Amino acid sequence: MKGVVLAGGIGSRLYPLTKITNKHLLPIFDKPMIYYPIQTLVDAGIREILVVTGGKNAGDFLRLLANGKEFGLNQINYAYQEGEGGIAEALNLAEHFAEGERLCVILGDNIIGGGIREAVDDFRKQPAGAKILLKEVPDAKRFGVAEVKGDRIVGIEEKPERPRSNYAVTGIYMYDQTVFDKIRTLVPSARGELEITDVNNAYIREGVMSFAFLDGWWSDAGTFESLLRAANFVAGSRRRSQATAEVAAST
Ligand code: G1P
Repeated sequence: MKGVVLAGGIGSRLYPLTKITNKHLLPIFDKPMIYYPIQTLVDAGIREILVVTGGKNAGDFLRLLANGKEFGLNQINYAYQEGEGGIAEALNLAEHFAEGERLCVILGDNIIGGGIREAVDDFRKQPAGAKILLKEVPDAKRFGVAEVKGDRIVGIEEKPERPRSNYAVTGIYMYDQTVFDKIRTLVPSARGELEITDVNNAYIREGVMSFAFLDGWWSDAGTFESLLRAANFVAGSRRRSQATAEVAAST
């Protein structure tokens, strides 16, 4: 399976922080935001990674990440998104890179405390289709929201006024090679974007969408509140692992 990190967009909700840089280059505690989703993919055993970005600061990603040595990689691939056509449009740029293989896609502003290796391994065994990761949240209407019946997702609504559940669709998606055919059928939403939720609903209609719940904390980082929350989550984790290391060293 190959990995794709989507790191485009104008980050309008973080203006003026994003006036002169890309959202995914902003700090989350002690690292640039994009480090976290890349590390998530690497920790899941994914070694071929494409970063899709755009805008005026695209070159900074190359200078920052280079060939991925800090992550133990030999190479990172890059694609450039022209315009602001949405998550599904950005993903469409990965078709050439995918070469028919399955993809694990992660939004560049999704920061997690646990790992996704088990879900990735389960998806490898799934005959076809897609898999998404859900998280129970108090503010579901900020996200794509999944309606779950038994062991099935019956539909996803993008930022609904009245959410049908508290299950947010996190920005971690696994797709087979049919994802690109599905993207080609999409039409722009009311906000003028090709929505990843429409891609996921296409898999749901075919009856080939599985899901799992994400362990540990999860935050996006696209608003001032969530940017701060993500940094606090990371700082807390660092403190805990430092304390554990100190206890281990003293015994
Ligand atoms: C996007 C997706 C949404 C998903 C969220 C996760 O929202 O459209 O379905 O729940 O990422 O971070 P956006 O960040 O574009 O508001």
